[in-house]
Amino acid sequence: MGFLEEIKRRRTFGIISHPDAGKTTLTEKLLLFGGAIQEAGAVKSNKIKKTATSDFMEIERQRGISVATSVLAFLYKDKKINILDTPGHKDFAEDTFRTLTAVDSVIVVIDVAKGVEEQTEKLVEVCRMRNIPMMVFINKLDREGKDAFDLLDEVEQKLGLHVTPLSLPIGMGYDFKGIYNIWERNIQLFEEEQKQTVGKKSKFSSLDDPQLEAAIGINALATLKEELELIDGVYPTFNREAYLAGNLQPVLFGSALNNFGVEELLNCFIEIAPEPLSKNSEERLIDPKEKEFSGFVFKIHANMDPNHRDRLAFIKVVSGTFERNVPYLHVRLNKKLKFSSPNTFFAERKEIVDISYPGDIVGLHDTGNFKIGDTLTGGELLHFKGIPSFSPEHFRYVNNNDPMKAKQLAKGIDQLMDEGVAQLFTLDLNGRKVIGTVGALQFEVIQYRLLHEYGAKCTYDNLNVHKACWIEADEKSESFKEFKRIKQKFLAKDKRGQLVFLADSAFSLQMAQDQYKNLKFHFTSEF
Ligand code: G4P
Repeated sequence: MGFLEEIKRRRTFGIISHPDAGKTTLTEKLLLFGGAIQEAGAVKSNKIKKTATSDFMEIERQRGISVATSVLAFLYKDKKINILDTPGHKDFAEDTFRTLTAVDSVIVVIDVAKGVEEQTEKLVEVCRMRNIPMMVFINKLDREGKDAFDLLDEVEQKLGLHVTPLSLPIGMGYDFKGIYNIWERNIQLFEEEQKQTVGKKSKFSSLDDPQLEAAIGINALATLKEELELIDGVYPTFNREAYLAGNLQPVLFGSALNNFGVEELLNCFIEIAPEPLSKNSEERLIDPKEKEFSGFVFKIHANMDPNHRDRLAFIKVVSGTFERNVPYLHVRLNKKLKFSSPNTFFAERKEIVDISYPGDIVGLHDTGNFKIGDTLTGGELLHFKGIPSFSPEHFRYVNNNDPMKAKQLAKGIDQLMDEGVAQLFTLDLNGRKVIGTVGALQFEVIQYRLLHEYGAKCTYDNLNVHKACWIEADEKSESFKEFKRIKQKFLAKDKRGQLVFLADSAFSLQMAQDQYKNLKFHFTSEF
């Protein structure tokens, strides 16, 4: 197969949802269709369960598992599908935001009973900002839930999307009878006992089939016909261009647990979802079809095996091919590096790969060369955009508890920050180090990992900060000088030396914004 065909057949996407909506179950069922696993239950969730907040071994174990499930690749109808896993736990949301820089599209999973939840809103907002094409899967139709049309309204209003249903449930919960597939124009009946199989199900291709009436009943059939008319009248017909531009989101219904509506979702997905897209760098737009290799690091994962304390850097191939043992330019270090054992991912296995194509994810063993956002190329000086740090919400001073291990602590903190576990700030006033995280759970993870991986002991002191924001200003202006003088106590530098304002309350942030109108207050590091 030629280079262009290889690109054309790749689909790299992420599944996002609020925890418990069914992301893991859906992923597993998709793999089942791809023949990548033989039975349900083979894929372990990498979600950190709520109950595990102080169970370090559990966190470690789950983090270990998540290396393998970070990328799940399989073949389906000759398409090479790469699912990038995104942690559902909100304390790891930043990991998810970064992973979203490496996907070409997403599937949003929503629980039919719970509707749009908080985490879904945040993640969809990030996708919307980036115009990522999104499909919506409304899950758990075997349970009592909200009315389909009410849910479509909720998705539009709460998530700011423009939806068009591509399937419609017939009943729900106890009364769930099946799904009308608007995309393929047929009806599939729900038979609970088929949940572990990928075999044929009862299908009808016409609403006028007398056996259909017998199967679902005259009332359900009449309701279905009315609802289909309503859909025709109210929702736009599906338009792929609009979907690809992020302006229209198709919605499908089903039950991941019962493997119902999943095959339809997958068939629709491979037809409409985009092949690897062009990506913007600071210098220019990079087309995947360009011959020269380029790619970027979107995730770094520490090796959980104590005998191999190296890390795995996950690279998304943007253009050209990535080949084993070929030297590539590490742009930030201005150094050529080659890799003798790049990994590819197939279902839950990791294997050495000789050649990877745009859309693929390659795992590179790293001993400290990589940071999130680093670019590798065939030689051109490129810097990929779009991996911002988000404003942390929890802050603590870090103290070294063992003066003999100051070096280990510094190295450990440095490497954990490169992995994107948290952000480090240095206070202008006294040089004290402050760690900022998106979720409180990270502090425990950091303390535990510093001790077990670097032999360094740290403790924390509380610090009252409401929000960190990056300051952009004309450095010579009087108002900036005044701001620096008056707010000195609240100023810090991030790892790149950029000025950050650590506002102690929403009120003081608002006051500062009102008072210093010439300054820009940014809530991500990229502006
Ligand atoms: P997540 O990754 O989005 O957090 O969700 P996950 O797939 O783990 O699913 C959360 C719970 O919802 C699981 O139950 C799962 O079995 C259930 N679930 C997923 N899809 C469906 C569906 O279509 N119908 C119904 N009724 N339930 C569904 P659990 O009891 O929390 O976990 P487990 O003990 O089953 O693993």
